Parts: sequence; C-alpha cells; structure tokens
Amino acid sequence: MTALLDTAERMSRAELEALQLERLRATLRHAYENVAHYRAAFDRAGLKPEDCGSLADLARFPFTTKADLRDNYPFGMFAVPEDQVRRVHASSGTTGRPTVVGYTGKDLETWADVVARSIRAAGGRPGHKIHVAYGYGLFTGGLGAHYGAERLGCTVIPASGGMTARQVQLIQDFRPDIIMVTPSYMLTILDEFERQGVDPRATSLRAGIFGAEPWTEEMRREIEERFAIDAVDIYGLSEVMGPGVAQECVETKDGLHIWEDHFYPEVVDPLTGEVLPDGERGELVFTSLTKEAMPVIRYRTRDLTRLLPGTARVFRRMEKVTGRSDDLVILRGVNLFPTQIEEIVLRTPGVSPHFQLRLTREGRLDVLTVRAEARTGATPEQRAAAAVSVAAAVKDGIGVSVSVEIVDPETLERSVGKFRRIVDERP
Ligand code: DLL
Repeated sequence: MTALLDTAERMSRAELEALQLERLRATLRHAYENVAHYRAAFDRAGLKPEDCGSLADLARFPFTTKADLRDNYPFGMFAVPEDQVRRVHASSGTTGRPTVVGYTGKDLETWADVVARSIRAAGGRPGHKIHVAYGYGLFTGGLGAHYGAERLGCTVIPASGGMTARQVQLIQDFRPDIIMVTPSYMLTILDEFERQGVDPRATSLRAGIFGAEPWTEEMRREIEERFAIDAVDIYGLSEVMGPGVAQECVETKDGLHIWEDHFYPEVVDPLTGEVLPDGERGELVFTSLTKEAMPVIRYRTRDLTRLLPGTARVFRRMEKVTGRSDDLVILRGVNLFPTQIEEIVLRTPGVSPHFQLRLTREGRLDVLTVRAEARTGATPEQRAAAAVSVAAAVKDGIGVSVSVEIVDPETLERSVGKFRRIVDERP
C-alpha cells in the first residue's frame, strides 16, 4: 500500500506542518503583493504577511467571502498577469454575477495531481477506465475529474452530464471501472438502467466517486446496493480549486481526507468567526497553500462540518458535509437541512430516493411539503403508511410538522447534475 502513496502522503504530521507553514507564509506574501483586495484587507487589519509566524497566527488574518469575489468580478482577484492564466472556470451561483476563478499552468498541474490522488484513494489505478458524467464547461466538475484521471494513467470517457439513455449505453459498451458523477444524477442513471431492463448490479463498475452536493450515509447504502459498487465522497469548490480538495478513502469510508499540503482548513463559528478546536462543528474555511493565479486567504465556504484526525492518511479528515448555511430552512423556528429529510425518506419502506421539498406560505406560516415518489409496485396502503411514517419521523427527529405527499413513480423532476432539493414558492 505505502508504495502507492505519493511523497506528501507519506510525510509525518510534523513534516506536513512545517511544509504548510512555509507555503502559508509564501501565499500570504503573494496575495499581499499582487492582489489589491488582500493588500487593502491586511492593511485595514494592521497586518503584514510576516506577522504569520505559526499556523495558528492565520486566525488573525481577515476572511474572504463570496461577496469579495463578486465585487472583484471578473479578474480582480487574480495575482498574476492575465496572460499567465491558462484557464478560467466560473460557478453560476443562484443570484447575480458568477464567481470567476483562474489557474496558471502550474495550478492546473497541482489540480490534476490532487484529483489523481483522490481517484487513487477511491481505489482507482492506472489502466482503469473512468466514466466522467460531471458536466464539462465552466463548472469545475468535468474538466477537473478529466485531467486528474488522465494524470493517474486512466482511460477517460468524457461523457459529461445529460443524455441519460446514452450514459447507460456507454457504461455497457465501454465497460468503465469507475464513474464520477453527482449522487443525484447517479439515481437518474439508475432509473434509466431499470427503464431499459438492464441489471445495474451487473455492470463493469466497481466504484463511484460522488460529490458536488450533499448526500447521506443512507444514500451511500442505496447506491452501493443497487449498483453493487463502492460509493465514496469527493469534495471541492471552485473558489479553492474544484473537485479534489478532499476525498474519502475507499478502505475506511470515514469522512474525507483534506489534501492539506495544498489546502489549509479551519472550522469557525459561523456567527462570531472564532476558530473552533478540531472535533467541533462549524463553517469550513480554506486557505490555499500553493495556488498562483488566485490564492484565497481564509475563504468562507458556508459548508458545515468538523475536522477529525487522519486515519487512512496523515491528513486531517472532514466529516461528510451535511449542509450549507445557504440550504438551511428555518421553519417556525426550527432549523432543518434537506439531508435530514433525505435520511428519513431513504429509511422509509415504499418510497424511492427521489424527493423534493416545497416551501409555501399559508397566511403568516411557512409550510414545508415533502414530496417523495413511491417505489414502483408500492400499494396504496403502503403509500399511505409511508406518508404517515415520514411525517412522524420528521416530527420526532427534527421537531417540526411537515406535510408529506407520496407521488407516483417518475413524476418528480430528475437531476442532471447538481440538484436543487428545495422549491421555494413563498411570495
Ligand atoms: O461542486 C466542485 C466539485 C465538482 C466537487 C465535482 C466535487 C465533485 P462548486 O460548483 O463551486 O464546485 O460548488 C461547491 O458544492 O461549497 C459545497 O457546498 C458543495 N459540495 C461540493 N462537494 C460536496 C460534497 C464543485 N462532497 C459547493 N458534499 C461546495 C457536500 C459538496 N457538498
């Protein structure tokens, strides 16, 4: 096993931390000297890059938010001349301008390296065939996965997202070992297998690398059983790099190892911004350690998780992200994440994993309706029992009343990439 690991993966914790500090200091200098936004922000805080003498000192530096990136749209956060930027990506965002990110040639090399490392941690090996069904384009999923798979020495099948019938055809004909796709789109592909009368357990696939959106242990079990594969989690965000910031190892499936030689994590209290000790839940914050085109200092991801010690690797782990602060629904004072509903829906007999959350207003009250599809063949009695059981589990487990509709199979919208669980119809 050790022979398969790269140099950074074989470091001791002390060696890793020394490397992190050296890279952190260089990054702070690079950002301060080359990005007007960081120079102004550090000056306002009365700090110079040299004031960072230890990893803990990073906490004294100001945060960077999505609003900072938007305010500097499109290229204002770049730390190198534009002619040194080899590629840009952008994340659409739900409102206003997209967030633009840039990569130098060396950044693209680093990115391919961390994705290759991620695929290897998921069980991928040189010579494997990898079906990439993340979208290609401005979204980082497709191209990020693509170059990482090539770097590892795999054969890439660049399917991109959509045209689901063809995805099934390609999987049968090209016989990939691994699929990389959002978990919600994997369910859409599963339906298509069943529609075509093809046994999804009989494919060549042995593993899936799923990310770009939150998904639960219940969803892992569903996908693993229905496809007879290992399902592991990949995390990342465009502002920090793209996919491959953190990856779950197939041998432990116990959360995601953060590739800490390139991305330095902190978890902070989302309200006060105070750094929390490892083990406590809060908002994940990243500082890039090697990026040239667009270094980020203390970028607030809005993703909620906690840091845990390494197991299969020396790097610290992050617990599976259960939600973003943006997806939080506050229903009559009770906080609720779509993943909490996912857990319940997937545990309930008679309902499929396809569900949507509809928010409406009746008078002054917000109402949440869970719409879940019945499994094919479920009887009217089973459907009625499922509705009662989902509502009761939400009431008991989360502490709020919701209405539940069990709808016919194949009636809810299907995912083709990142899925929006919440349909907000409030005025
Ligand atoms: O989603 C990058 C990516 C592509 C990751 C493919 C994994 C696979 P963005 O479009 O910038 O980048 O969205 C980033 O997606 O802040 C999280 O809220 C969410 N996210 C990404 N991976 C996971 C995951 C890509 N494994 C945002 N679990 C992040 C939960 C995830 N949420």
